Amino acid sequence: MSRYFPGRLLAIETSCDETSIAVLRGHEILSNIVSSQIDLHAQWGGVVPEAAARAHVEALLPVLQTALDSAGVGLHEIEAIAVTNRPGLVGALSVGVSAATALSLSLGCPLIGVHHLEGHIWSVLAADPELQAPFCCLLASGGHTEFVHVRGLGDYGLLGSTIDDAAGEAFDKGARLLGLGSPGGPMVERAAVGGDPKRYPLPRALPERPYEVSFSGLKTALLRLTEREGSDLNVSDAAASLQAAIVDVLAEKALAAALDSGSSTLALVGGVAANTVLREALAARCEKEGIRFIVPPRELCTDNAAMTGLAGSLYLAAGTPNDLPLEVSSNAELGP
Ligand code: KG4
Ligand code: ZN
Repeated sequence: MSRYFPGRLLAIETSCDETSIAVLRGHEILSNIVSSQIDLHAQWGGVVPEAAARAHVEALLPVLQTALDSAGVGLHEIEAIAVTNRPGLVGALSVGVSAATALSLSLGCPLIGVHHLEGHIWSVLAADPELQAPFCCLLASGGHTEFVHVRGLGDYGLLGSTIDDAAGEAFDKGARLLGLGSPGGPMVERAAVGGDPKRYPLPRALPERPYEVSFSGLKTALLRLTEREGSDLNVSDAAASLQAAIVDVLAEKALAAALDSGSSTLALVGGVAANTVLREALAARCEKEGIRFIVPPRELCTDNAAMTGLAGSLYLAAGTPNDLPLEVSSNAELGP
């Protein structure tokens, strides 16, 4: 039996501020279209749930058409649908789930609901479709920073997490303090190019607590730094120093989590996994320790529907029954 749903699968992701639709066949990603609302929400300085839901409604059909066209697949050829149904903004999730439900009913094909974080975890299959559990996973996104022992599909052990801000949040808040705009992570990464990461010493919190991270002290230290330096602040050096502080902590703790859980593979997923300095730091440390390091291509790290499709495909192939009627949930434990 194939590990992946063998037919043409349509995947939909609308949990936050990206409308994304992908078409997969087996593990093959035929198309993965992402329409971002980042410019829309920039005027309010954060994601406004009501506006997000409306923007998903507007984007959904054009994104669907583009996804089908670039995959070269007709809607009538779709054989199953996967949709992110938890956790996320309820209004935003409902747009994707309503569309998925309607499509599944009209096409008469199965529908599977996917946990957003499971989507991130299994996005790693884009790097190696044959990868098998168990493996250790650092999931670092805008809302989560978790060290997960992946024992199998739907079987996850939480080794540790952040006790305050997520890593992506640390990038986003830091970018705001440095006047760099959003999305914070890519802005900090760009500003840090050529900057001196040792110029401004910033704290690395919780050295004594394995697999737990904290970034609120870092944010305060950066605020103090900007106040102290004023217009003398070298933004590139400050961005490099901030990035180094976040990367150092994540890399060190992820490696400890992998080693202590006896994992021979460490996966890096979530939006922050798009960060080149973090990717390189973990690759180098893993190589030194004889651990296999695996990370999805950058465009599959930030929110996208291909990851929803990969996780959904595994569940469909495993015989998970049709999920109709599909509920949405703003909060959900990581699990099947
Ligand atoms: O996974 P994701 O797209 O959405 C959530 O589920 O939260 O992650 C978004 C987060 C944002 O905080 C963004 O600033 C961060 O990922 N991010 C990055 C980079 N690209 C996105 N952080 C650091 N470096 C990047 N290149
Ligand atoms: Zn995400």
